[in-house]
Amino acid sequence: MIMKCLFPVAGYGTRFLPATKAQPKEMLPILTKPLIQYGVEEALAAGMNNIAFVTGRGKRAIEDHFDITYELEDQISGTSKEGQLDSIRELIDRCTFSYTRQNHMRGLGDAILTGETLIGDQTFGVILADDLCVGEPDGVMAQMVRVYKQYRCSVVAVEEVPHEAVGSYGIVSGAQIDAQHMRIEGMVEKPSPQDAPTNLAVIGRYILTPDIFEILRNTPPGKNGEVQITDALQTQAKNGKVIAYRFSGQRFDCGSVAGFVAATNYFFNR
Ligand code: UTP
Repeated sequence: MIMKCLFPVAGYGTRFLPATKAQPKEMLPILTKPLIQYGVEEALAAGMNNIAFVTGRGKRAIEDHFDITYELEDQISGTSKEGQLDSIRELIDRCTFSYTRQNHMRGLGDAILTGETLIGDQTFGVILADDLCVGEPDGVMAQMVRVYKQYRCSVVAVEEVPHEAVGSYGIVSGAQIDAQHMRIEGMVEKPSPQDAPTNLAVIGRYILTPDIFEILRNTPPGKNGEVQITDALQTQAKNGKVIAYRFSGQRFDCGSVAGFVAATNYFFNR
């Protein structure tokens, strides 16, 4: 059983300035629900009810969101609006939430290593809430848990991206197992299109075995001077311990304005 899911939410969200000047990017709503809530719902649907956040300065709204708001709840109690809080109340009832802070933005790998105190020595999920996923029929993290049960090693969700877009992602290559699974042999962070071995991009969903923490501790800063989770996964991949999983469903890159608009339209029209 994988009980814990880590949410690195320390990033600045500079692509959404000025909206993210005084509020976390993860609190931007798709319709009436903030991005982070979609992510936590996906984790819970995968059986992970122990939710761990790696936060930073200016992220307190996330903590408040996953807590009771007595005045507000009292105010709308008995009115037609009460039901609008059902989804968040369910998460508060069914999950536990813990927090730690990343003091310096040293990259996603560093953020995950910062989460070690909350995770401990067990396999865990990682969700980047700005990648909003709609799994078919199950949530993407629930699909990945099934893959983990089969292969018992780290799992990353991948999707094909246009060749000209590979420079925005970690790109994988390896030995195809079947249409949805590949044993990763090589990973490269944000390659130029001519250097990219494939167009299979890692998206913001991972299941990581706990040896990743020791590997991260020994991983020097890579691209952009940041500790890259891709570099640490490459170390696991050398031992055949990372599966790339082509998930069933759709992903919206809500860290970009275009992806955010696409997600909004999708949820509005469905
Ligand atoms: P991004 O680089 O996409 O997010 O990091 P960002 O920095 O928040 O946004 P922009 O690019 O400035 O608009 C991917 C994920 O990793 C987390 C971010 O919060 C985001 O969820 N992250 C990244 C950290 O928690 N710490 C870091 O040092 C870097």
